[in-house]
Formats: sequence, structure tokens, C-alpha cells
Amino acid sequence: MIWPAESIWEAIYPLLPDFTVEVLPQVDSTNSELMRRVRAGHSEPTLLVAEQQTAGRGRLGRDWHSAVGDSLTFSLALPLAPADWSGLSLAVGVSVVQSLHPDLQLKWPNDVWLQGRKLGGILIETAGLGDQRVAVVGIGLNIAPREAGGLSTPPAWLQEVLPGLDAGAALLRIAAPLVQALKAFELAGFAPFQPQFAQRDLLLDRAVTLSNGTVGMARGVDAMGGLQVQTPDGMQTVTSAEVSVRPTPAAD
Ligand code: BTN
Repeated sequence: MIWPAESIWEAIYPLLPDFTVEVLPQVDSTNSELMRRVRAGHSEPTLLVAEQQTAGRGRLGRDWHSAVGDSLTFSLALPLAPADWSGLSLAVGVSVVQSLHPDLQLKWPNDVWLQGRKLGGILIETAGLGDQRVAVVGIGLNIAPREAGGLSTPPAWLQEVLPGLDAGAALLRIAAPLVQALKAFELAGFAPFQPQFAQRDLLLDRAVTLSNGTVGMARGVDAMGGLQVQTPDGMQTVTSAEVSVRPTPAAD
């Protein structure tokens, strides 16, 4: 696979002068690798792409599986100093879907879905370095057809709506707008992204079940990125990244 590393660097360098792009044939996890580097004292903005991850990680301690050639797996490490970190993963999701295709939707807090199936996910971690905080934004997207293997719902992939787009071309579309979105988030937080998230909100006005068993109707996200859920006991705001949400299956 030929990666457009030079074009990506040219698009991002004006925004981040000390930026580097790196492609590895194999690593355990691009997030883990960048977190290790930050903890070892490296805070330079870095985009790390892996052709293969041997221990890809998802949210809530889950594994993230991908095979060589069928996925885009990368992470971006960037020092950030927002007044409030709430909603960062939602802002990242908005940027990713807007860079790719109008049919892509976001399932709170940060899954990318296509036509009722999951196409990708976002895992954000942060590490302190002196008086700085570095965000490591990890993104995994299915690009080409892949096996359902073990997943409860079959996955979707990007070439369903963008035939011929390979992982490198997808990354080139995503990378510079992502950096711009992170810088916009640093200045103004999630609020400016709220209406854009609403346009892509898969759960809006759908029945949802929270992992604590609460059932309600999803009513969008607030200006901090919290999911509003209308329950029999009133409106609840779900903010915890530890909560998973799924559409309530329709009764037959
Ligand atoms: C999720 O859906 O739970 C989030 C998945 C995030 C996967 C990406 S792939 C690149 C980066 N490295 C990882 O180990 N995870 C993220």
C-alpha cells in the first residue's frame, strides 16, 4: 500500500509546523504506541498509521480487530489546552463523517455508522506532560468488505458508499480537517459542533437502552456533548464515557 504521507504532511504542516507523519507496517496499537511516546516525554504532534495492529483497542476495554488492507487504523497525538474537554470525541466524529460521506452517521458518543451498521470507532486518551496535556485521538475505519466474525451486528465498510477509495485516500481526506477541528475545539469547545452532530445523530428520537438498564428516548446532545435521554423519571443527561447505549430493539 502506498500511503500519501507527503501530501498529508503538506496539508497539515501550515497548521502545525513541528508535525510528523509516520507509517508502521505493524504495531500493537497506534494509540498505545503514541501514549508510550508521550509518557516518555515526546509531545510533538504526530500522526501514526499502522498497516496492521496486533492489539487494537476500542472503548470500554474492548478489542478492535482489523486485517491488513481492509481498514484504516491511525492515531494523532496533539498537545491541546481546551477550557473543557467535554464533547471532544463527538467533535472528532463530526469532523470524520463530514470529511467522508453525507450518509455516515454518529452513534453517541463516537461510533461511525452506515445504514444501520458500525463502520468505525474513535478512542481518545490523554496524558499529562509537564504542564501540557497531549490528546491521542485514535480512529479505526472499515474500508473494504470484512468478515462479521464474532460481532453481534455485521459491520459496514466505506467502499459501500465510496467505491475505489482506499485507506490512504480516506486518511488524506480526514487528516487536515481533523487537525482544524481539534484546534477549533481547543478554542471554543463542543458547542459549535452541536448542530453538526445533530445532523448526523443516529439515535435522535429513537428508543435507547443504557448499559445500566435505563430505557428512554434519545433527544439529542447538549452543548457539552451529553446525551439527553427522556425517561419515565424525566430527562437524564448521560455524560459518562463508561456508559454504552444501544438502540432498543423494536418489539415484533
Ligand atoms: C471503538 O469503537 O470502541 C473505538 C475503536 C478505535 C480503534 C482505533 S484503531 C486506531 C487506534 N488504535 C487503537 O488501538 N484503537 C484506535
